[in-house]
Amino acid sequence: MRNMAYVNGRFLPLADAKTSVEDRAYQFADGVYEVVKFYGRNAVRLEPHLVRLMESSAHLRIAGGPGLDEWKTIIEQLATENELVDDETNEYILYQQVSRGVAPRNHLFPKDAIEPSVVAYFRKAPVYSREQRETGIALSLQPDERWNRCYIKSVCLLPAVMAKQAAADAGCFEALLVRNGIVTEGSATNTYCVREGIVYTHPTGPHILTGVTRTLVFEAAEKAGVEIREEAVTPDQFAAADEAFISSTTMGIMPATRLDGKPVGKSGKPGPVTRQLAQALDAIVASELRGHEVTAK
Ligand code: PDD
Repeated sequence: MRNMAYVNGRFLPLADAKTSVEDRAYQFADGVYEVVKFYGRNAVRLEPHLVRLMESSAHLRIAGGPGLDEWKTIIEQLATENELVDDETNEYILYQQVSRGVAPRNHLFPKDAIEPSVVAYFRKAPVYSREQRETGIALSLQPDERWNRCYIKSVCLLPAVMAKQAAADAGCFEALLVRNGIVTEGSATNTYCVREGIVYTHPTGPHILTGVTRTLVFEAAEKAGVEIREEAVTPDQFAAADEAFISSTTMGIMPATRLDGKPVGKSGKPGPVTRQLAQALDAIVASELRGHEVTAK
């Protein structure tokens, strides 16, 4: 692939894709973003990602960004500019960001209407090892120090960054965030535990991001005949669960088999419900890639 980016109406090499030091994303984290997985030139659930990006902008009162159709045109052109290999085995990540724009530094929104800064580019998707999928990843309990508008996919990610780094420093792959004695989600993933065949995950609302993959997990569960309850659990309940897993656009369903150094479930191995859901999710993705949802073509 070529490393081409889209910046405010222009396509240019990623190395030359720049914005001002007075961009409000840079000074105030005043912007929103999306991460979409592509298989060749096809994305799964592109539209929900684009809708969430527009909703996130609206929540922050960032106006003037591309609408649904404009985004689709930009992405199609960007895929062409990048010469994406149109083959499912080539996995890419599309990063999109919309900030309020460039203005002299002032906490207040600029008085005069300004154009938002709109950026998008592709990268090769991260590769998760077979070992990670077969063994499962380790979680580390960390305090959830984020704000009360986690449903907005804002670039204000420092509390998530600190939590993920603390988890990595503890030898773990992902943080399991805890707010007021309740497990919310991961630093960049939704989280689930399974008890007696029933999956538990935090309800949507101010304290989690409503993941696009989370929605797919619910659909996979329905297909697989697995019950999911949107019920918050405590860290102790999570630790005592039979199975656990996390989900995100980049990794799909990933089994979580250790929590703070102790095995989750009796075996400490990916459990049957997790495997069943992962298979059901793969089947949905495969069926959509076979032509039920073709995008960026
Ligand atoms: N993270 N929760 C949080 C806090 C996230 O940042 C993400 C995504 C998710 C999963 O959402 P989705 O299924 O729509 O990817 C949940 C992206 C991938 C990131 O920041 O890289």
